[in-house]
Amino acid sequence: MSIRVIERIRAMQAWADEVRREGKRIGLVPTMGCLHEGHLSLIRLARERTDGVVVSIFVNPTQFGPGEDFEKYPRTFERDQELVEQAGGEVIFTPNVEEMYPPGFCTAVQVDKLTEGLCGASRPGHFRGVTTVVAKLLCAVKPHVAVFGQKDFQQAVVIRRMVRDLNLNVEIVIAPIVREADGLAISSRNAYLSPSERRVARVLFQSLEKARERVRAGEREASGIISAMKAEIEAKPMARIDYIEMVDAETIEPATRVEGRVLVALAVWIGKTRLIDNVVLEKK
Ligand code: PAJ
Repeated sequence: MSIRVIERIRAMQAWADEVRREGKRIGLVPTMGCLHEGHLSLIRLARERTDGVVVSIFVNPTQFGPGEDFEKYPRTFERDQELVEQAGGEVIFTPNVEEMYPPGFCTAVQVDKLTEGLCGASRPGHFRGVTTVVAKLLCAVKPHVAVFGQKDFQQAVVIRRMVRDLNLNVEIVIAPIVREADGLAISSRNAYLSPSERRVARVLFQSLEKARERVRAGEREASGIISAMKAEIEAKPMARIDYIEMVDAETIEPATRVEGRVLVALAVWIGKTRLIDNVVLEKK
């Protein structure tokens, strides 16, 4: 059976209503397309938990800042369609910008506090765009379960908060980071890297491994762990640190020591490409 492509919100809602009437459970995997193994792992996880998986493909203009890569963001719809089909998705929901943001649109969903640090500080307005579009996608697809990747840890935490705060009736599942053989987290933006930049990009994962080793060896102070990571990255002339931080994994507030569950997150420019990665560490 070939996959169904739905472009209109009304048609998407009608499909969801029908499936729900049959007593089946719907899974949603929101994406911006240019699908890779990371996205596919989310689709497979959603399949395990539901009866029909919708993959949304929408490059959301409102989460890109001025001068960011909205225009050049890779769009590979035909290939994406094949990949969703192979991974066992049932529907691709791919609205256009006018469908999502018709003239007169002036509503936003804003999650405070959790969006202040990390990527929220470097990309003002980014999370407001993300929460607004995800709220709309949830209203269009009406899923029982929506799956997000740990790769964008702060995004997942912010969405989980939005769902709780607005009493949205959906379970948010967070899936582990899928990596290349050398440890680089898979990302659509890796396609921007030149071969030499690609080699340097391993340093993100290497520095996170360094943090993990230090904690295993008994180090607890954020400052020591972060300076070791910085030294590793600053040794690469092509790399420029946007941020490296240790925060509480629930509140996203700065942590000075490894206590409970902490997130070590970083954003690093490799040439003109900004990459992010993270690891969750726990004091055992
Ligand atoms: P996008 O960057 O396409 O990512 C879609 C989903 O795939 C996100 O939940 C992201 O965390 C997950 N993902 C990406 N790379 C991954 C990897 N290597 N391993 C595991 N999961 C990975 O995130 C967005 O799109 C958008 O902000 C969106 C939520 C769709 C709203 O527009």
